[in-house]
Amino acid sequence: MAALDTVLAKIDANLNSALGRLFKLVEIPSVSTDPAYAGDCAKAAEWLAAELRSIGCEASLRPTNGHPMIVGQAKAGRPDVPRVLFYGHYDVQPPDPLDLWETPPFQPRIVEAETGKRIVGRGVADDKGQLMTFIEACRAFKETGGLPCHITFFLEGEEESGSPSLPAFLAENAAELKADMALVCDTGMWDRETPAITIMLRGLVLEEVVIHAASRDLHSGIFGGAAVNPIHVLAKIIAGLHDEKGRVALPGFYNGVSELPEEIAEQWRELRFRGSDFLGGVGLSVPAGEQGRDILEMVWSRPTCDVNGILGGYTGKGSKTVLPAQASAKFSFRLVGSQDPDKIAETFRAFVTERLPADCRAEFTSHGASGALQLPFSSEALSLARRALQAEWGKEPVLAGCGGSIPVVGAFKDDLGMDTLMIGFGLEDDRMHSPNEKYELTSFHKGIRSWARVLNALAL
Ligand code: BES
Ligand code: MN
Ligand code: MN
Repeated sequence: MAALDTVLAKIDANLNSALGRLFKLVEIPSVSTDPAYAGDCAKAAEWLAAELRSIGCEASLRPTNGHPMIVGQAKAGRPDVPRVLFYGHYDVQPPDPLDLWETPPFQPRIVEAETGKRIVGRGVADDKGQLMTFIEACRAFKETGGLPCHITFFLEGEEESGSPSLPAFLAENAAELKADMALVCDTGMWDRETPAITIMLRGLVLEEVVIHAASRDLHSGIFGGAAVNPIHVLAKIIAGLHDEKGRVALPGFYNGVSELPEEIAEQWRELRFRGSDFLGGVGLSVPAGEQGRDILEMVWSRPTCDVNGILGGYTGKGSKTVLPAQASAKFSFRLVGSQDPDKIAETFRAFVTERLPADCRAEFTSHGASGALQLPFSSEALSLARRALQAEWGKEPVLAGCGGSIPVVGAFKDDLGMDTLMIGFGLEDDRMHSPNEKYELTSFHKGIRSWARVLNALAL
């Protein structure tokens, strides 16, 4: 194995060609949720498998009922080094609304901003640019002598649509995927100078409700006043989901949610998080969640209930005097601590059902349920990774929470018995899932260098 400096120099020399490779991947519109892009998802998977083979890895596509998984194996030069499993996802969120993009979403380009160069395109931050930081680090090792760890690559194409094929795939391929630990590059930095290792993820329960009332849409002049309006029923139920203090009103919702240990609360206060900048950056000023809590606490360690979409009645141009036969809404709950996802889905359904007036009926669909995750605050791997990141960025990494969810990390723990190191280089203003998604060139470049240092450290 070559000295780390040689590998880092190789990474610097490869940066332009690495960007070219990332652009090729971003050009493939692998939107997992929309069946119209299934061919592109397959194409992205093929492209990545070829990419892994080009760095000497044995890689293959594994068909699922949805989009293919990619599994690759690469051996280190020495036998007696750790085996790590690297996970990333090649699927992306839909690019809509298209008219808000300043440049086409699947024609990546470098844009000069005040803070430096950035890469713009759908998926550059979530998760194509991030997963390529890891693959490019491996390429540099391969080109200078060999990998420091045995690596299993595991790339998914359904993360953005709830990973429907993942549980069965993990169960069926456990022996092949099991490693000493997992590495995931799908999270962010603390700020543009300070790296982070994420040790908490919120869980996620996704529920859809359709409320049915009359047997057909009605004339609101003929029936208005006499017939129940399912939009009103739904609105009232939604309004009842939070109390006046911003707490979620489902019975037992906070079971399993504990107050932050004082030691962690203190660490978080020391981070001097600027809540006003956080909200100000998206045109807001007043925190709207649970009263009396810090904003960082709200997004890292408190649970939520949100309506993500609502539909019913006439929403076209002009007006229509109609009483709709049905109304529907999509809900998401972010979970923390040991809140039980199945229990919460059940309580939610009971809450809705109990509030239905005569002649109304609710139909429920689950779009997934996974619990929150808490990784250990100290471990050998964590210390090694902290030192490696400190060496690259010149700053001690923050042990961070994350408001988002990455269900696979819980499955690695529960089904494969592995802890995960979550290291990523995204920034708060990367506009993940939004128009004009970007990834800083420094995130990409120093992200690759960071992985080289982390892999090197884990092998020592
Ligand atoms: N990369 C994100 C998770 C994430 C969110 C990391 C925010 C850092 C900050 C991941 O791709 C994602 O979007 N997860 C979804 C869940 C999924 C089931 C759609 C989420 O958190 O909403
Ligand atoms: Mn992601
Ligand atoms: Mn995402």
